[in-house]
Formats: sequence, C-alpha cells, structure tokens
Amino acid sequence: MIVSNRLPVDRVIDDDGNTTWRPSPGGLVAALEPMMKAEDGVWVGWPGVAGEEMEPFEIGGIDLIPVELSEQEVQEYYEGFSNDTLWPLYHDVIAPPSYHREWWEAYVVVNKRFADAAAKAAAPGAVVWVHDYQLQLVPKLLREARPDLVIGFFNHIPFPPYGIYSQLPWRRQIVEGLLGADVLGFQRLADAGNFSRAARRLKGYDTRGSIIEVPIETDDPEAGSHRHVTTNRRGALVRTVLARQFPISIDAQMYQEMASRPEIQERARQIRHDLGDPQTIMLGVDRLDYTKGIGHRLKAYGELLAERRIDPADVVLVQVASPSRERVETYRQLRDEIELTVGRINGDYSSISHTAINYLHHGYPREEMVALYLAADVMLVTALRDGMNLVAKEYVASRVDNDGVLLLSEFAGASDELRQAILINPHDIEGLKEAMLQAAIMPKAERSRRMRALRKRVLTYDVARWSKSFLDALVNTAHGDHRDEKPAGYRTRER
Ligand code: G6P
Repeated sequence: MIVSNRLPVDRVIDDDGNTTWRPSPGGLVAALEPMMKAEDGVWVGWPGVAGEEMEPFEIGGIDLIPVELSEQEVQEYYEGFSNDTLWPLYHDVIAPPSYHREWWEAYVVVNKRFADAAAKAAAPGAVVWVHDYQLQLVPKLLREARPDLVIGFFNHIPFPPYGIYSQLPWRRQIVEGLLGADVLGFQRLADAGNFSRAARRLKGYDTRGSIIEVPIETDDPEAGSHRHVTTNRRGALVRTVLARQFPISIDAQMYQEMASRPEIQERARQIRHDLGDPQTIMLGVDRLDYTKGIGHRLKAYGELLAERRIDPADVVLVQVASPSRERVETYRQLRDEIELTVGRINGDYSSISHTAINYLHHGYPREEMVALYLAADVMLVTALRDGMNLVAKEYVASRVDNDGVLLLSEFAGASDELRQAILINPHDIEGLKEAMLQAAIMPKAERSRRMRALRKRVLTYDVARWSKSFLDALVNTAHGDHRDEKPAGYRTRER
C-alpha cells in the first residue's frame, strides 16, 4: 500500500463537461506500477480537487482510495501547514515559515483521515509505504491502529538541521509521528543525520549508526507485537527504527528511449532552429518555487549580458517555470519578482531578432521536455536547497549523444551522486557566472567524458533500484533483520 498526499491521477474534463481521470505520468508511479499490479497494490491519496467525494476506483490496474479534503482543509493543511510552514522550514528557511495553530490542527485532522483510510484498507501484515512531509504523523497513527503492519516512510524533501527544525512549535509531535515507522528513508546522508539528531535532542533516544532505539513501555499490552523489540545496552526494552538515505531517481531507461526517437530528435533540431540556431542554448526547468534559485540564475545571466561577456546573438537562455502552489502568497510574490527580472533583462538586451531569455510559464508533456534537454548545451540547476532535483537526472538520462553540460548546485541532493557535473554554489554569483562561461566553452572531449560518467550513474541507479532497495529494507525489518546496506558509490561523509 502506498499513502501519499496526491493520488497518481489527473482530472480531465472532456468537451461535454464530464470528469474523467487519467494516470499522472510521475516517476513514482512508473517505478511502483509493476509491483503494485503484481502484489494487488492499493494507493491512498487526495485526488487534488477540494470537496470532491469519490468512491474508490481503479486506474491502470491499481486500486485507488481517494481521501477527501474540504476547501478549508486544502487551505489550512495543504497550502498552509504543508506548503507555508513545513516547506520553507525544511528548505533552510529560504522564505520565512508561518506558524498558525489552526493550520497545525488541520494537519492533525487530515493526517488522521489518511491513517484511518489506510488502516481500514490494508490487508493483515501488509507493507505500507507513506510518502513525504504532508503526512509525517501517519506512521505513528497507523502503528497504533494496526500494529501488524510493516510501515515505511520516505521524505522527498530535505530534513533540516536541528537549529532550524527546533523552531517548529510542534517539533516533538512530528518526530514522534515519524518514529512510528520501521524504516525512515531520506534523500541524503545529511538529512538522515539531521533527523537522528532531532530524535536524540527532543526525545533523548539512543542512536547507533542508522538505528534509532525507541523505548517501549513495559506495561504496553502491545509490546510483544512490536517489531524489533530488543533489550538495549541500558537494559531497556526498545523497538529499533532504521533511518538512512535512499537517494531517489528516475525511470532513466524511459528518458533514454524517448531521446533516441527520431521524431524527438527532429523536434530538438526544430527548437534550436526556432531559437535562431545560437551557439549556446542554456536551459532552466523548474517548478516556479523559491527553493530553485531562479532569481540567482537570472542575476548571474543578466550580469554576464551587462558586462558583454555573453552576446544575445550567440547565447539564449530558455527558462521553463511550471506554475505551482499559486494561491500561496510567497509563490505569488516570487512569480512577480521573476517576471519583473525577465522583463527587465529582455528589455535591456533583446533585439527584434534575438530574445535574451525565453520565459515559459507552462508545464509541458514529457516528449517536449526531452526535446528541450536534447537541444540544450548547458543545463542550469541552481537550487538553494532541494531534496534531490530530478530535472538534473532527466537531463543526463536524455543525453544519449553523450553531450551537454550540467551545472549543478551543491545544495541539491543530486550533487552527492552527480560528481562529474560542474558543481556550483548559487549564492556565489561571481562563481556562478564563471561556471556558466566555463560550461559554454567546454571542449567536446571534456563534455563527453563528464556526461558518460554521469550517465553511467543515472542509468545504473534508477527509480526501480531505489524502490527495490527501500522495500527490501522494509521487508527485511518484517523478518527482524536490520541489515544496513548503504547504496554503493555514494558519499559516506557529511558535508
Ligand atoms: C515536491 C514534493 C511533492 C509534491 C511536489 C509538487 O516534489 O516533494 O510531495 O507533490 O513537490 O507539489 P504539489 O504541492 O503540487 O503537490
């Protein structure tokens, strides 16, 4: 069973005004689909529309159990607590988090609803995998309701250092909620370390490497049914929880296959042509989010133009910024700032024949994205903080020609794995400008050497491998085996 805030479906309204649903093309679904079908999988989540009461339905062989959210809950639990409290807090307070008691109350109520739906539908002894920051209370609630279940949780976004996390008025409840799981997965070693520290500091729990020892009350009638009950060094009865990194990935094979199709390669040539066949196309692809460092990227680009170190006749920047969380104030402000900056740069440096920045506030089908990746000489990933950044991996998987340069922020989880990218600190504008120029003039042999190494990594450690390693760890816990196998070739020291 998968439990996530969003169900993997998109609503489509046909010409007659009827509502139908189609599978949303996310990587997570692609990775889990074969296993979900083979194992009679069930997916519990919100269909993404407020106040919509829906019966369970099936799509593409997977049973979906919709969880309803009222308009007020969308505002308080989703836009409020999830995206205006936890999101900025967990991304190093790049934007100030808002703390509202009503939002927290809605978060508790909605997490309980998800846990109830999961508890009701799960088969005896089922393996339940809960996803992301919107549902951090679910593991504990689920364990209380159904001690027979094997419970995993994966956090797709960073987990912040204790000095930041400790701002949260409900910091203790969230740690307790997460520790209801048997296995807690994070993107980076540093995230898992931050969580373990929070468990030590707030709860006084002992940790040994990736294992956290959660004491069990000896008069707990359920004590015997808990998994991994052992006696620790102090003679206390404890349940052990594994907390470590499982860096997520993409369906790399699918991107590779798409990028090999003649019509997509033709589309890539067409894009280059439509942009005036410039020497260098730089590309940014992001949800329009303040964590992505779009402003820093534009600042660096604008300065290079102002200093005449790049010429708009030779270099074009394409920025795809897909609309996101548009009712949250910080996102509205960000959109205004970005569009003001793009307008200024284009006003100052574009001509009738050359547009300095092609700014596209849309989402695009995957085929078009792959064509864009193939057309782009330089991919700019300048996130100020990012759990992983899958765009970086998509770019690499699409470059079947072993060409193209990836500029990658050290603050994105992907930088732990993609060491042959040009790694940058997006706060260092001079460094970023130098890296952009270096990327634009990098000799073909070096581009190819770096891209081959990046591709090897991304094609080997794909999303199927990620979900298998998480589920293996989870299933091992059901057999009382906390084998702690770290992913190979991965950074083992914290920065
Ligand atoms: C991030 C989060 C996901 C979330 C996605 C889109 O990747 O980790 O949980 O679904 O952003 O955001 P949205 O608010 O539209 O679901």
